[in-house]
Amino acid sequence: MDKFLIRGGTPLEGQLSISGAKNAALPALAAALLTDKRVVLENIPAVRDIRTMGRLLATLGAEVSYGKGAQSHRVVIEAGDITSREAPYDLVKTMRASSLVLGPLLARFGSARVSVPGGCAIGARPIDLHVKGLEKLGAGIRQEHGYIEAQAPDGGLKGAQIFFSRVTVTGTEDLMMAAVLADGETVLENAAREPEVGDLADLLVKMGAKIEGAGTTTIRIQGVGRLHGARHTIIPDRIEAGTFAVAAAITGGRLLLERCHPGHLMAVIDKLKEAGAGVSLPSPSSIEIEAPRPLKAVNVTTQEYPGFATDMQAQFMALLTQAEGTSIITETIFENRFMHVLELARMGAQISVEGNRAVVMGKSALSGASVLCSDLRASASLVLAGLVAQGETLVDRVYHIDRGYEKIEQRLCSVGAQVERVS
Ligand code: EPZ
Repeated sequence: MDKFLIRGGTPLEGQLSISGAKNAALPALAAALLTDKRVVLENIPAVRDIRTMGRLLATLGAEVSYGKGAQSHRVVIEAGDITSREAPYDLVKTMRASSLVLGPLLARFGSARVSVPGGCAIGARPIDLHVKGLEKLGAGIRQEHGYIEAQAPDGGLKGAQIFFSRVTVTGTEDLMMAAVLADGETVLENAAREPEVGDLADLLVKMGAKIEGAGTTTIRIQGVGRLHGARHTIIPDRIEAGTFAVAAAITGGRLLLERCHPGHLMAVIDKLKEAGAGVSLPSPSSIEIEAPRPLKAVNVTTQEYPGFATDMQAQFMALLTQAEGTSIITETIFENRFMHVLELARMGAQISVEGNRAVVMGKSALSGASVLCSDLRASASLVLAGLVAQGETLVDRVYHIDRGYEKIEQRLCSVGAQVERVS
C-alpha cells in the first residue's frame, strides 16, 4: 500500500495546470450508456475512479478505450452491445458513483440491477432520492440481497414532476439521464446546481437530448426517441483547483493555476481573500494565489453550490490551523465528514468537534507524524498539513487520494514540495 513521505516547510512557487473534473467525468462516462453510438470524452483525469467506472461499463458490455500519450486524457465509449444490466457489488463497493448507471440502463434497456452502495467514511449516503425519482418516472423498484432491481413499465419510462426533498448531485444526474428517453416532459425541482450537473446536461444535449435549466434549481427535460454519439470536453476540476490554492496559501508560497474555471470556485476564493490571501484572476481560465501575511481566522459553512463546497472543507480546515485566531467550520452536507480532525490533531492541530461544528484554534505549529487517510478529501487535507509541518509526515493509504487527484505528488514536487511516494 503506497504512502507519501512529505518533508514540510517549503513555500510552493510556480504554476500548475488543473485536470478535468472527476465528478463531471463520472456521470459523462455513464451517459455513454444512453446510445449505441460512439461517445468521445476529452480532458478526463487519469485517476482511479475513472478506471473503476470504465471497468463497470466494460462489465456491462460496453467497449471502453483510453487514449495514449498526448491523448491520455481521452476516453472513447461504444455501448452498442450491452450484454448485462448489472452493476456488481465488488465494483460498486469501491465507488458509490456506480449508482449513476441506474438511470441510463433503465432509460435505454428498461431494466437495471445495481448493488446498493454501502456507506462510506463520510456518511451513510443512501440513494433513496434516486429511487423515489425513478419510481415517479414509472419504474418498479425492489431491493433484495443488497441489490436494487429496477424495471421500467412495458411502454418505457414516463415523464413526471419530481421534487428532491434535499439537494442531491448524483441524484439530479441519475434522474436527468433517466428522463432524456422517457415519454413526455420531466421537471426536476430543487435540482442540484453544481457545475458538474451543467456539464452533464451539455453532453446530453450534444447527444440529442432536450434539456433546459441545468445549473438552476429547476431542470426541464423533453424525452426523445434516441440519442446519438458526441464528442465532449470535461470541465476543469474546481475542487482540485481549490486544493492547490490552499497549498499555496498554507505553505506561504505563490501559485498560478491554469486551465481552470475561477467562476466555479468563487465561494472558496472569497474565503481565501477573507483569510488574507492574495487572489487574482490573470485570465478567464487562471487563478493566482499568494499566501497571506498573516493568515486570519475565518468561519466556514459548507453548502450546496454555489456555496462553499463540502469537498473543500477538509482542505480548508488544514489551512485554518495556521490562521491566527479561532475559526468555526460547520459541515451541513454530510453527517461524518470530520475524519481528518483526529489525524490533524496528531500533527499538533488544536481542533474540537461539537456535532457538525469544528472549532479550530490557531495558529498551531504542526509537526510531522504518521497519519492515515480515510477518504479522498481528508487525504488531501493531510497532505496539505504535511507540506507545512515541521519535519517528516508519512501519509498512509494514499490510494484514497489517487481516486481523485492525478499524479498529485509529482505535480506538487514540480512547484517545490518535497513529497515522495513510497510503497
Ligand atoms: C456528490 O456526491 C459528489 N460525488 C461528492 O464528492 C460530493 O461531496 C457531494 O456530491 C456533495 O457535493 C460525485 O459527484 C461523484 P449528494 P453525492 O447526493 O451525489 C444525502 C468527492 O470527494 N442524500 O449531493 O453522493 C447524502 O447522504 C465526493 O469527490 C440522501 O439522503 O452527494 C448527503 O448527506 C465525495 N439520499 C446529501 O444528501 C439520496 O438519495 C448530499 O448528497 C442522495 C443523497
